[in-house]
Amino acid sequence: MANANNQRDGFSSSFGVFAATLGSAVGLGNIWRFPYEVGNSGGAGFLLVYILATLFVGLPLMIAEISIGRTANTDPIGVYKKLAPRSLWWIIGAFGLVSVLLIISFYSDVIGWVFAYIAKSVRGHLLTQDKAVLEGSFTQLITNPSSSLAWQWGVLLLVGIILSFGVSKGIEAVTKKLMPVLFLLLCVVAATSLSMPGAMEGVKFLFVPDMAKIDRSVILTALGLAFFKLSLGVGSITIYGSYFRRDQNIPKTAFTIMLADLAVSLLAGLAIFPAVFALGFSPDKGPALLFQTIPAVFFKMPMGHALMVVFFVLTAMAAIGALLSLVEVPISVMHERLNLSRISATWVSIVFLILFGSLSALSFSTLGHITLIQGKNIFDSFDFVSSKVLMPTAGLLTSLFVGLRWGKAAFIRANSNEGSLNNASLLNIIFWVLAVITPILIAIIMYFGLVSK
Ligand code: PHE
Repeated sequence: MANANNQRDGFSSSFGVFAATLGSAVGLGNIWRFPYEVGNSGGAGFLLVYILATLFVGLPLMIAEISIGRTANTDPIGVYKKLAPRSLWWIIGAFGLVSVLLIISFYSDVIGWVFAYIAKSVRGHLLTQDKAVLEGSFTQLITNPSSSLAWQWGVLLLVGIILSFGVSKGIEAVTKKLMPVLFLLLCVVAATSLSMPGAMEGVKFLFVPDMAKIDRSVILTALGLAFFKLSLGVGSITIYGSYFRRDQNIPKTAFTIMLADLAVSLLAGLAIFPAVFALGFSPDKGPALLFQTIPAVFFKMPMGHALMVVFFVLTAMAAIGALLSLVEVPISVMHERLNLSRISATWVSIVFLILFGSLSALSFSTLGHITLIQGKNIFDSFDFVSSKVLMPTAGLLTSLFVGLRWGKAAFIRANSNEGSLNNASLLNIIFWVLAVITPILIAIIMYFGLVSK
């Protein structure tokens, strides 16, 4: 808080704002999670519910978080202390901080697996379609305590190095280079997958809905994915919002990011499902889909070896961009609330995250006997609590904050750049969606997904 705001680091160009925020949204959520949740929940019906959740919950909340961040111009807990002094709204930020720690714990573990898979695929170890070999290779990686820890710690150290360069020279510089490459590479892989004989089955699976497969838990899963995908309810978008330029058009940027993120998920789906169906694999492999099915798919593709390496490299790039925005949350809180220098805040966070993250990495081996929620191990419990409980709750509170405390006039002022954008009637609609529809939807979905049986 004591930092002079005029010296605060931030994104330097409009494209930088876009690349960094899209970099937060695009990640394992698109390439690992989206395909396996679509696969588990029966395809296009889930996609439809997910898109509705994104439009009526995700997008309005993204606009809310960015504008709260930019207006208060500080860390995700400080923003609420500044906009609503002497109240308890800062608890939204504290909730976010807890989710961030849980997410980083399992997210960095999965990125570790992706890096291990880059190494495996370069060495040609995955060039087979023998399911037993591929399953064995994956199981061996995640159940080996030392290798899973080593990969995870390496990932966190890498992120620490990038973040110690700061916002414009670290986050912005890296994501600006990564995002366009990622998009191009994904198009190449999707085009190859689509050109396989029998690919249409996968396209149908992704785009022709079967409503019979939709139940309460599927709807809660879709809502959780909408939060996870757009990095909402944790403070990542709020802190990035505080780095936004004053002349950036927030609703337009959020809308473009939502569309681009959806495009990346669909591209990932088009890279995976056509090939999965063309080769007779099953789409409901869960979190292992990316690691066990994809190599077999590439094995059968023309230029498969090279494309497999490319695919895992691009997954790693996307995931690192998202992890930057997660780790930025504790860093900014320590830097701006506790007045630690940026460098100390970075390395204190990384050391803590290495320790806390190890709980997830070890939950398939040394700590495998520990179950926390509904018989789930540590990794799955962290994932469940963050996506299905904490993020939606923080989202619900944020929408109430905007509706009840911050108010329509302040919301419109912030999102119209003090009236210079001439978008008041659009903002009026967004405000009412945010203040009424968003919280009601979240409350109903959480109630039926978690409480009522
Ligand atoms: N949006 C990221 C993804 O889809 C995950 C994420 C969640 C990033 C929360 C930041 C905050 O992979």
